[in-house]
Parts: sequence; structure tokens; C-alpha cells
Amino acid sequence: MKVLVVGGGGREHALAWKLAQSPKVQAVYVAPGNGGTALDARLENIAITDVQTLREWALAEKIALTVVGPEQPLAVGIVDEFRLHGLRVFGPTKAAAQLESSKAFSKAFMQRHGIPTAEYETFTDAIAAHAYVDEKGAPIVIKADGLAAGKGVVVAMSLHEAHEAIEFMLAPDPSFNPLGVTHNAGGARVVIEEFLQGEEASFIVMCDGKNVAAMATSQDHKRLLDGDQGPNTGGMGAYSPAPVVTPTVHARAMREIILPTIKGMEKDGIPFTGFLYAGLMITPDGKVKTLEFNCRMGDPETQPIMMRLKSDLFEVMMAATSGKLDEVELEWDRRVALGVVMAAHGYPLQPRKGDVITGLPSVNTSGAEDTVVFHAGTATAAGGAKGGVMTSGGRVLCVTAMASSVKEAQHQAYEAAKTIHFDGAQYRKDIGFRAIKP
Ligand code: AMP
Ligand code: GLY
Repeated sequence: MKVLVVGGGGREHALAWKLAQSPKVQAVYVAPGNGGTALDARLENIAITDVQTLREWALAEKIALTVVGPEQPLAVGIVDEFRLHGLRVFGPTKAAAQLESSKAFSKAFMQRHGIPTAEYETFTDAIAAHAYVDEKGAPIVIKADGLAAGKGVVVAMSLHEAHEAIEFMLAPDPSFNPLGVTHNAGGARVVIEEFLQGEEASFIVMCDGKNVAAMATSQDHKRLLDGDQGPNTGGMGAYSPAPVVTPTVHARAMREIILPTIKGMEKDGIPFTGFLYAGLMITPDGKVKTLEFNCRMGDPETQPIMMRLKSDLFEVMMAATSGKLDEVELEWDRRVALGVVMAAHGYPLQPRKGDVITGLPSVNTSGAEDTVVFHAGTATAAGGAKGGVMTSGGRVLCVTAMASSVKEAQHQAYEAAKTIHFDGAQYRKDIGFRAIKP
């Protein structure tokens, strides 16, 4: 069977790598893919990003299953488009993807269905928003409505910062940009919410509209620098399992967040199919609250999670797209997988492209390897030497290792990262620190 993975990041490389291990899969196409998917002989990059063109191509190629990685194509309705033409696709519809694409939608949904989340109000009027912030005080969190690639959230530690964020997000004046946020970050609606304290974890499940299969637990590191300092990024590393998600927290997240969400979406007439990612805040007293929903897998969480998945992902996806997830039991490697993101010079604000990457290990295709370098922002050098790879985005590689403890997986990943070079490479030295007892 032929499979298509939509996207070109580290998450998509990991999904394609895992799908290619299935004996039922003859070919895995990745659209548009990256340097890593280009180097792997089992994968083939397809240079199409437009949804209609991709659908025509998938029909012509008789693609048996399409898996969509990023939120952008989901938010514009790639799943609706593929299904309309009889193609089997794993992901949420455009309406269901609003759980991620609209903060106002997801907050109202959570309130309506009694799903624990931070207290909030939605505003379109700046004056009312300023008054609300004055009343509540800092710290307080301001979120632009709409997809903003992680740049639409301001955790304001002072009232001044909160007012600035409101001015920026609600006043459509591009010259006023005190926070250096990309303008048009979200549109003219903001959600202002209570600041939650605790430890974050990524809780990701697969849904078929009714049934749920939980992925292994994971945690990522969003800040650029060691010790969770510096600016927010898309994620500088991740590991699985995450000890903070104890069996009690897991049961609570399923009971209080995931199952009511799936039931609520079904009741609202927009059944959720695809990966559902709840960003959890686990408070010091053991309560679990929803920080956000994503309608996709996490990146870089997918990389360690896919390394630990023992089940045949293709078969799991076929069950998930047939409403039969209740018949699936996911099997996980008991070891710890940990991924270290190597980012480009200037990431996250102005990542530099075109730096030549050397020292990459040769592509191993056995499926039994315990260190894998997943690519994200890489491209094969045009006209260059065979196999030449260079940086082409902010997060460049995710060096992922699996071992019997967090410490060993960490050591193994860093040993592998040390052999890889490109000018300006930056990576954190403490991925997994929260899971290592002092
Ligand atoms: P979001 O895109 O909503 O997940 O927000 C991005 C990041 O901002 C989260 O991963 C948290 O670190 C932080 N954040 C979001 N909402 C809150 C909140 N209510 N309290 C504290 N931190 C938050
Ligand atoms: N690692 C965070 C995310 O994928 O949203």
C-alpha cells in the first residue's frame, strides 16, 4: 500500500520513518518532506503543498492512507477535501481543528462541557480588555485568537506587559509592536486568562470520533536555554515517558479532559478524528488543567514517542480511520526515548538558512536502531555533493536516543549530537532534567 505523510518537519520525518517499517507499506511519500526524508531510500519527497493539487495527486497515485502532520493544512480543511473525494485520511476536519485554530472556540467548548482550564474572558474591545486586566492583576496570560505559530501567547508577569500585549493584539497598528511579535499574529480577538502554576506535560491521544487510544506520555522543553530560561520556542527537546504524568494524573486527564472532549465534540456534531494533544498543567496539589488543545501530534514529542512505539503504525491508522480504535492495543518499548533539538543560528527570531551540516550518521533502516537523527529544517544541497545536507529552518535536527534510563538516553543523545556540526548550531544541554532525580 502507498502512504502519504503531509508536512516537512521532524514530526513528519518520525511518522514517515515509523510507517515505512510496516510490512504492509510499499511506499511512503512525504509532502513536501525535508533533507532527512530525502536521504532515506524508503521515503520519497513530493514537492506539492497546495491542498487541491495534493488531493489530485493522491487520487492518481491511489494513496491508501494520508496522515497529516501540521495544524495549517488541517485548519484549512485538508481532511474535508480528501474525504469528499473518497480518500482515507487521518486528521480532524476543519470544524474539529478549531479546537486548536481558535482559542475562543476551544475555551468556550471547555467551559460548555465542564473541562478544567484556566478561568478566562474573551475580548474584542481593547478598553474592556485593559479594565479586565487591571481588575485581575498580574501575572496574567493574553492569547491572540487564531493560529499564531506559538507567538500569540504572552505570559505577562507585570500589568505593563499585559497592557502592551492587549494594545498590540487588539490595535491593528503594525507600527506599534513593543513585543516584537510578527504582526497579524492572530486577529482582533483575545482571550485573557488566569495564570496557572505547575509542571507542563503533553498528553496526546488518537481518536476515531468515538474511541481513544492514548500515546505514551511525554514532556517537551519550550524555552530556548538551559534551566527553562530564555524565549519560548516550538520545542527544544522532548522525552517519553514523562514521570510527572503518574498513573493518577493519567487517569485524571483521561477522565476529566480527554473523554469529555471526545464526547463533547460528538455531541456538538463535530466528531473529533485524528491526534488530539492536550497541553496539561499539573498543579502542585495534583489537579490537572488544560492549557491548550492541539489537533495534531507534538513536535518534537513525536520523535521520542515514535521511537518507543512497537505496534505497526499503519495498522493502527487503518483502525483509527475505520472507527475501530477500540480494537487496538498500543504497545510501547519500556525504555526511555529522549530527543535533543539542534537549532539554527538565530533561532527562534531569525534562523539562518544554508549552513552545511556534516557528521550525520548514515541512514539506518532496520527499525531496531536506538539512536535516530530526525530531520526538520534541512534540505539536500542543490547541485552539491551526493547526500549534502544544509539547514533550511529554525529547528534543524532532533537527535533521539532510546535507553533504559533518562540519564542513559540523555548521554546517548548528546554523544550523537556532538558528532554533528553546522555553523551556529545551538542546543540545550539539559533535556530531560525534570525526570532525573538529583
Ligand atoms: P498555549 O499556546 O496556549 O499552550 O501557550 C503557550 C505556552 O504559554 C504554554 O506552553 C505555557 O507555557 C504558557 N501558558 C499558556 N497559558 C498559560 C496559563 N494560563 N498559565 C501559565 N502559563 C500559560
Ligand atoms: N511541542 C509543542 C507542540 O508541538 O505544540
